[in-house]
This record gives sequence, structure tokens and C-alpha cells, in this order.
Amino acid sequence: MTALTQLSQAIHDAPRWHQPEQFQNPQEITIVPLEGEALGAVVFGLDARKAQAGETIYRLKQALAEHLILIFKNQRLDDLQYLAFASYFGSIFRPSADNPVLATQADTGTPPDVVPVSNAVGQGDYTGHGELNPHADHQWTPQPSFGSLLYAIELPKDGGQTSWFNTIRAYDTLDEATKQQIDQLQLITYNPFVRRQYLKDNDTNGYGSSPLYRFKDQPIIGHAYPHPLVRTHPESGRKALWLNTHSEVELVNYDDQAGSELIASLREHLLKPEFRYEHQWQQGDIVFWDNQVTLHSRKPFPSEQRRLLKRISLAGGRPY
Ligand code: OGA
Ligand code: MN
Repeated sequence: MTALTQLSQAIHDAPRWHQPEQFQNPQEITIVPLEGEALGAVVFGLDARKAQAGETIYRLKQALAEHLILIFKNQRLDDLQYLAFASYFGSIFRPSADNPVLATQADTGTPPDVVPVSNAVGQGDYTGHGELNPHADHQWTPQPSFGSLLYAIELPKDGGQTSWFNTIRAYDTLDEATKQQIDQLQLITYNPFVRRQYLKDNDTNGYGSSPLYRFKDQPIIGHAYPHPLVRTHPESGRKALWLNTHSEVELVNYDDQAGSELIASLREHLLKPEFRYEHQWQQGDIVFWDNQVTLHSRKPFPSEQRRLLKRISLAGGRPY
């Protein structure tokens, strides 16, 4: 017999419903919205190692569509248990080798199913200890992941908070003229990993920084996949601004100057504090977010303090 992949093994080994001590009683679970915050709900009483009832997963999916991020407290999982839990919500995100993303491996051309996000050299130090600007994971790919989960294993004493931004609210609070102006626009988000390689190869000073907007006299770096600037959420039907704050982007078939100004003003709007929730991590937290209608960012932390989270991203469809 062929060896199982990590994911197949995870589901093969997962607890079954007939093991009563391993079956989560749906009545033990409560979902509490974060009071006074722009988004988010906390899920209490759920042990992600256990087999979950259909009604529980359905309830969590509805809660995610409503609150945009779910925070599970006090988890204790190995990678296989984590994969078994995450895959209740969809297929694991596996981009093709022509679309490099965080943690793409040189040999396989894809990232591992469970991505360590840490500052420990050689153990998942893809993002180091610096600030991460507001982004949606894999936005530059043809089929970006619909959601991601981060599980906190080791945390620094200072800094390293992750913030999420409610981009439905950001869209809703635009004036009617701006909504009309942007509703039918398509946006290309260029791949920052291709850009990074390009800068490394072409910039004699080492790493330069990425432009925020591509003017038509500038080279196109990598593949371009136009997606709607205003996305519709597949379950709730809500509209959201689908724009990150720092990648190189381009509005399709739009004047350079007017386009770059429009994007700059939308980005300024997105950064307003009223759209944002900052999460103070505790060990054992899993945050599960919807990439379609949120952005997330991270504060820097001291390089000598260790931080290790593990991320699983779930496959999504072509944005509409
Ligand atoms: C990610 C990410 C944020 C963090 O893994 O996609 O953006 O807080 N991480 O490390
Ligand atoms: Mn991210």
C-alpha cells in the first residue's frame, strides 16, 4: 500500500463518533460575540481534538460568516489533529508552483499543509519578527484561500499582536458616489513573493521595496489575475472591499493617476481604527478568519523572543 499523506493520515486517525469520550457534545459549545469590537466571536467549550457533530460545524460556519473571525480558546493539538479539525471547513489550500506563496518549498513548489509561522531560524522563519502590513492571504493567486487558521504555540512577552479588519464595514461606510465608482472595477494584486525575488535579482542594493501601484510604463512582475475590487461574500451576500494596503496593485483599464489616487484613498479608509480588532494572543488560541471579507496585520516583536504559530489555509473559489 502507498504511504498516506499527512492529511489522509489525519482523517484516518481522527476520533469517531462511536467513541463517546471523543465526541463533542454540541450543547457544551457557546459562541460569544466580542462586545464593542468591529468583528469577532469567541468559541468556548469546544475541544478541537474531538469528533464534531454536523450541527456544530454548521453553526460555526454560520458564525464565521456573521462575525468574520472565530477565536477558539485553550486548544492543545498536534499537526494531525489540527488538520483533521480544519478540514471540516473545506479543502486544504494547495496553490500551483506557478503562484509562489508564503512557505512555498523549493522541492515541491507548494507550501506544507501546516505552515509554521515563527522567527526561529530554519523552523518556519518566513515572516521573521517584523511588522506585517494588512493583507488577505494569497490574494494575488487565481483562487485565493477563503480562510486561514492560526494556532498559537509559543508567544513573545512583548508585541506580536495580530489585528483583523472588517472590510464589509469598510465598504458599507463609503459614500454612495464612491460605491458606484468602484462597484464594477477589477483589481490586479501582484504577487509579493515574485516581487521580492525580482528585487533581489535586479536591485544592486539588495532588497528595495515594492511600489504600491503599477503605472503602465512600469514592468509587469509575474502573472496577473484580475479580481473584483468589491467582493460578494458567498454565504452572506455582503459586499466587501477587497484590497490590501501595501502590495503593488493595478486597476484594470483605468487611468494611472486617477487609479493610484483612488487606491490610496481607499487604503487610507481601510486603516481606520473602527474597522479593526487587535488580538492579544494566549497560548492555545486558534483564530479562524474569513480571508474574503477581512484583512490582517501583525505588530513587530523583539527578535530574541520566540514566537511560533501554525497556519492552515483553506481553498477558495474564484472571487466574484
Ligand atoms: C499569516 C499571517 C500573522 C501573524 O500567517 O498569514 O499573516 O500574526 N500571520 O503571524
Ligand atoms: Mn497572512
